[in-house]
Amino acid sequence: MTARKINRIAVFTSGGDAPGMNAAIRAAVRTATKNDLGVMGVRFGYQGMIDDDFIEMHHHSVSNILQHGGTILKSARSEDFRKAEGRKKAVENLRKHNIDAIVAIGGDGTFRGATVLHDEYGFPVVGVPGTIDNDLFGTDETIGYDTALNTAMEAIDKIRDTADAHDRLFLVEVMGREAGFIALETGIATGAELILLPEAVKKIDYIRDSLNKVFKVQRRSSLVIVAEGDETGGALSLAEKLKDDFGKYEMRVCVLGHLQRGGSPTSHDRVLAGRLGSAAVQALLNGHTSVMAGVLNHKNALTPMHKTWSEKKSIDFELLELAQVIR
Ligand code: F6P
Repeated sequence: MTARKINRIAVFTSGGDAPGMNAAIRAAVRTATKNDLGVMGVRFGYQGMIDDDFIEMHHHSVSNILQHGGTILKSARSEDFRKAEGRKKAVENLRKHNIDAIVAIGGDGTFRGATVLHDEYGFPVVGVPGTIDNDLFGTDETIGYDTALNTAMEAIDKIRDTADAHDRLFLVEVMGREAGFIALETGIATGAELILLPEAVKKIDYIRDSLNKVFKVQRRSSLVIVAEGDETGGALSLAEKLKDDFGKYEMRVCVLGHLQRGGSPTSHDRVLAGRLGSAAVQALLNGHTSVMAGVLNHKNALTPMHKTWSEKKSIDFELLELAQVIR
């Protein structure tokens, strides 16, 4: 812990946007202003830090934003920040604006960047977990995950209607670059016949056999939920591997893609964002640095930032077993 005096903080969002980021920005800004801290927003994440894209923020700068998806501060994935020269420029700009500490809202890439800023320049940083993937160690849920689950579930329910009307086999791909959280929970919520995740790799023969049982023998509509990061290479690649066996049965593929990232956050994500955006500023005021503010067993918890990506958050394997029992 550092006990450095903080007068002014910067807040930014980075990496893939997630519904609820605006609610997190609002909570951070309002907690800061209530504690008499100045706040600057950085637009476009680390790239904006390098390009000097800073804006002053006040209580009213964040009015009427918590119900909207996306991020008012914009987001980016910055190649320049990976270079020492880019980071030097970013720190020069932070110092120019008299920033004493930063609140970084995003996923593992965002936290890797914040950790480097802290380690190289001693900059106080606290992270807020904002990603639909839910793949950060140190928090039971990330901001945006619940909304993405519900968006995907509603879309898959619609796919089920048409699959059922034709008794078709659908391969539906959901997001989750290296993690199967979205696939697992949407698979259960939509009664999928098969769920394929990077955490529980299934051989192609197993996939064929399972689909033979439910789809060919029982001849009923079947949904396979495939995480984009699954070993099969995603839904399109799986369709290619299955085409000789199931091609003649009007197999269809649907990649849900970025629609899972947009939309108004659920109440759950808004509350989580409020809690964690505020907790991050409180943590800075209490002298913490290089930590992420998360929620563990319903309580706020700080986790060393490097652990959020260096340790792996596991999916719930009991849920995966449950999916097989009740499908
Ligand atoms: O990390 C969030 C996420 O939506 C992943 O699920 C997905 O793999 C990735 O971002 C897509 O990134 P981009 O929007 O840059 O294509």
